Parts: sequence; C-alpha cells; structure tokens
Amino acid sequence: MVTVPDKPIVLLGFMGSGKSTLGKQLATAIGWSFLDLDRFIEAEENRLITEIFERSGEASFRLIESKALLKVLKYPRQVIAIGGGTPCQTGNMQIIKENSQSVYLKVSPLQLLHRLSFSTTPRPLLKGKTEPETLSLIEEMMVNREPYYSQADIIIESDAITARSILSQIEWLTRDEG
Ligand code: S3P
Repeated sequence: MVTVPDKPIVLLGFMGSGKSTLGKQLATAIGWSFLDLDRFIEAEENRLITEIFERSGEASFRLIESKALLKVLKYPRQVIAIGGGTPCQTGNMQIIKENSQSVYLKVSPLQLLHRLSFSTTPRPLLKGKTEPETLSLIEEMMVNREPYYSQADIIIESDAITARSILSQIEWLTRDEG
C-alpha cells in the first residue's frame, strides 16, 4: 500500500513531458483526483487556452494562470498537472514549493520534439513552427526554464518515466513525515 502525505502533488515540466498522462496514472494509483491546470482555466474562463492567447495575449494568460494556481493548490489529495510555463512566472515556484510535493519530469529536447509532433493538444507558443524551429525554440526555452523546474522536490530524469517510479521517489522522500 502506497502512503504519501496529503499535500497535493504537482507535476511540472516542459510541454510534452507527460504531465497529464502520468498525472492521471498517478492519481488512479493512489486514489486521488486529477486536475489539469489548463483545463481548469478553460472551464473557469469558458474559453480555450488558444483563444486566451489569441484574444487577450500571453501576459493576460499568465495572470489568469497564476490566480488559477493559487486556487487549485488549496485542495489536498489531488495530483495537479500544471502548464509548462506556470513555474516560471514570478513567485509561482515558491508557492508550488510551499504548498505541494513537486515533481519535475525532465525530458530531453529531442524526445519532447518527438512527443509534441504526435500531440493533438494545441500549443500557441509552438504554432506555425517547422520541426527545426520547434527544436531550437524548445532548447532556448529550456535554458530559461530549467532554473525554475530544477527547484522541484523531486526531479525524474528520464525519457521513460512511470507513475510507479514517481510514487517510489515521493515515498522515499517523505518516509519520515505524515
Ligand atoms: C505553456 C504550456 C501549455 C499551456 C500554454 C503555455 C508553456 O501547457 O499552459 O500553452 O508556456 O509552456 P502544457 O505544458 O500542458 O502543454
């Protein structure tokens, strides 16, 4: 039987790192609910992420995203997949660290490119880019984002991460708590 503290588990990492897929598996494994921050925002705003980017711009999306983060972190026993840019907005990584057990799913740029090419989720930041352009953008954004992502409590560095490996690491990290 897996025992982890009740604090929400936040999965973070670049677009295409598997936060939602793994988050759902993880939540099922421990009997918690799963929440995807982007889907939460869409439900609250009653419009798609792409529409928010197109009509209101990225800066406006980031404000909505940071407010939504504060809201969802209030509930225990939830696995939350946040957006790739969420931890990189001012103050958000600290909020995540104080209110959750954070896990960074670290995936290589080439593997991300591969996964994103099969993804059906629209990503406004990558829209209209060729494959080489997308790879350079991923590499460039990674340099800026890594300092935030790497503050997570747990870093899982693998292109083949499983829900089980995340759980073992959380169990190990929190073995003397809760
Ligand atoms: C973004 C990632 C997206 C979404 C938005 C911006 C980013 O979420 O929040 O398109 O800045 O990396 P996913 O990481 O779930 O794709």
